[in-house]
Amino acid sequence: MPRSPSDPAASIAESRHDFGEHGGVNMSIEASATFTVMDPETMGRVFAGELGPDLDYFVYSRHFNPTVMNLSRQIAAMEGTEAAYCTTSGMSAISSVIFQLCCGGGHVVASQAVYGGTHALLAHFLPRVAGIRTTFVDVSDLDKVKEAIVEGETALLYFESVSNPALTVADIPKLAKIAHDKGVKVVVNNTFAPMILSPGNLGADVVVHSVSKYISGGGDILAGAVCGSADLVNSMMDLQQGALMLLGPTMNPKVAFELAERIPHLALRMKEHSARAMAYATRMKSAGLKVIYPGLEDHPQHHLLKSMANKGYGYGGVVCLDMETEEKAYKLMSELQNGTRFGLIAVSLGYYETLMSCSGSSTSTEMRDEEKARAGISPGLVRLSVGCNGTLEQRWSQFERALARIQE
Ligand SMILES: Cc1ncc(COP(=O)(O)O)c(C=O)c1O
Repeated sequence: MPRSPSDPAASIAESRHDFGEHGGVNMSIEASATFTVMDPETMGRVFAGELGPDLDYFVYSRHFNPTVMNLSRQIAAMEGTEAAYCTTSGMSAISSVIFQLCCGGGHVVASQAVYGGTHALLAHFLPRVAGIRTTFVDVSDLDKVKEAIVEGETALLYFESVSNPALTVADIPKLAKIAHDKGVKVVVNNTFAPMILSPGNLGADVVVHSVSKYISGGGDILAGAVCGSADLVNSMMDLQQGALMLLGPTMNPKVAFELAERIPHLALRMKEHSARAMAYATRMKSAGLKVIYPGLEDHPQHHLLKSMANKGYGYGGVVCLDMETEEKAYKLMSELQNGTRFGLIAVSLGYYETLMSCSGSSTSTEMRDEEKARAGISPGLVRLSVGCNGTLEQRWSQFERALARIQE
């Protein structure tokens, strides 16, 4: 059952604060692979499921770990879900949920506009290794979604709240209603919009994250999270049937500690990423560039995003520029990095520096040309993950200088 936070920052602040072993303001790191018990009978009861982490009984860190639970509680609070658990990467969070929810092969309906790695997982890997088939659809066409769902066969509907890289916004409440009417679970990837959107409160059953992006913010850690009901998280840790327990992508407690220190200022970071992205998108448009940004009135889902978003966090930190050809895209990125030092040519997002990549020849290369076209990825699409360091005006003058140089 989702809780209903009016503001994710308030929910995070209200969640349990674990102190350190010696009264430290931060929790101690429970850096143990294994846990001891007072007597052999207790261990038997833990393995039988009679005693568990809710009563402070732990067995082994591939199963629940207290430090990973601390981070997971904060992420659950942010998403307004009953529970969450963290994984080694976004991809392991996504694949574990799909394995958990698809029984005996199974069918997935997914958005055609998803991150290239997820597309490859669904289009190529899962059919080959597990007989899990996916029908890709344009999720903004609700009739197509209805048609693609096969009652009794489709296990889940998967889409990104704001798609990577084309920034298409999904109508989470309407999609959830369509899926639920047909008994299908809804899994939403909220990597591009933490704090901004709370898919769990809009109807999603499961929310997944690539924590490697905004939640981390440091560009130094790969991590993921699965947020949903306590039943789902517990089922994923089941000793006989749990995808997290048996495939083993659970997070290292040292990594969980690092990340837990970054959650309290995620709200501030998201506000700054969004404010700068909005300012640059507006100015880039005035400079005559073809800009895709859901904060702009001309974005097809601007009003939809506004209607779903938590107030005060803006429209996200990613702006796309359609430079039409790869050649022009490369020229602009080179000048922005090597000429004026506006940002770095690198994949990923959510870092404090601006990161720039040409999606068609980087993070979406897993897709064929016609699949990219359907997902709104033109050859010259430059994805900018707008950073939050330096000053807005300093960065904008770097952008303007680079633009002037390539237009000479
Ligand atoms: C929307 C989305 N989902 C999943 C992933 C994969 O995450 P990770 O690199 O943490 O495995 C990415 C990475 O770019 C992403 O953008």
